[in-house]
Amino acid sequence: MAGGKVWLVGSGPGDPDLLTVKAARLIGGADALVYDHLVGEGIIDLARPDARRIYAGKEASNHTLPQDAINGLLVDLAREGLSVVRLKGGDPFIFGRGGEELETLVSSGIPFEVVPGVTAAAGCAAYSGFPLTHRDHAQAVVLVTGHLKDGTVNLDWPALARPRQTVVFYMGIGAAAHICRQMVAHGLPETTPAAVVRCGTLPGQQTLLATLGTLAVRLAESGIRPPALIVVGSVVDLHHRLSWFESR
Ligand SMILES: C[S@@+](CC[C@H](N)C(=O)[O-])C[C@H]1O[C@@H](n2cnc3c(N)ncnc32)[C@H](O)[C@@H]1O
Repeated sequence: MAGGKVWLVGSGPGDPDLLTVKAARLIGGADALVYDHLVGEGIIDLARPDARRIYAGKEASNHTLPQDAINGLLVDLAREGLSVVRLKGGDPFIFGRGGEELETLVSSGIPFEVVPGVTAAAGCAAYSGFPLTHRDHAQAVVLVTGHLKDGTVNLDWPALARPRQTVVFYMGIGAAAHICRQMVAHGLPETTPAAVVRCGTLPGQQTLLATLGTLAVRLAESGIRPPALIVVGSVVDLHHRLSWFESR
């Protein structure tokens, strides 16, 4: 191996303008890019024309390359001596399996660096007008996965249903009804504001406003599909005054 290295880079929530300067520079200089499906259009276009572009996929139900194959691919490309940018939507360490990929690189002796990105919760909140920790509303923000494992979502519901916090569920659309029921069963009022943001920061962003009592039905009626986040907490109501992106 002569000088091969991997940069694990967060590409942000979608809008290419939310890339960090460092991410844009690395993408523009890379010999090879390995990217996931949530990497926004226009970001891959920043790569050199001769750069190898490898789609690693990973939609919830359609894993284009299994995780082991992705880990092995990164090692192989670096061993060819290439500068490899492993691009992940949002931030690579937030529900991104970036840590697992780095562990393989460490075991294989491949040098690496990590570049953080704007995670979907921050991007969607900014573009929907939900200040996640507005001090009149929330003392904490919790990022949690709503991904169904074996048909159930095993989460610490009493901790999630505490007052004065904002909870953001990633990958929770398929489990939205269950999530809302559990939050109410563990103490939050049915009138607690709740929202879904789909394709946040992109031109087609959709924000659905509801409450824990109405979200599941409203979501089913809307036909909204992933990628989307569920945001629960009274900061959601600030959308009415602070929304700017969808009303431009
Ligand atoms: C596997 S996780 C990756 C999260 C990513 N590493 C991050 O930091 O944002 C994918 C989930 O993130 C959420 N997500 C990512 N981008 C989004 C966007 N632009 N709008 C809404 N939700 C998004 C969705 O819940 C999606 O199912």
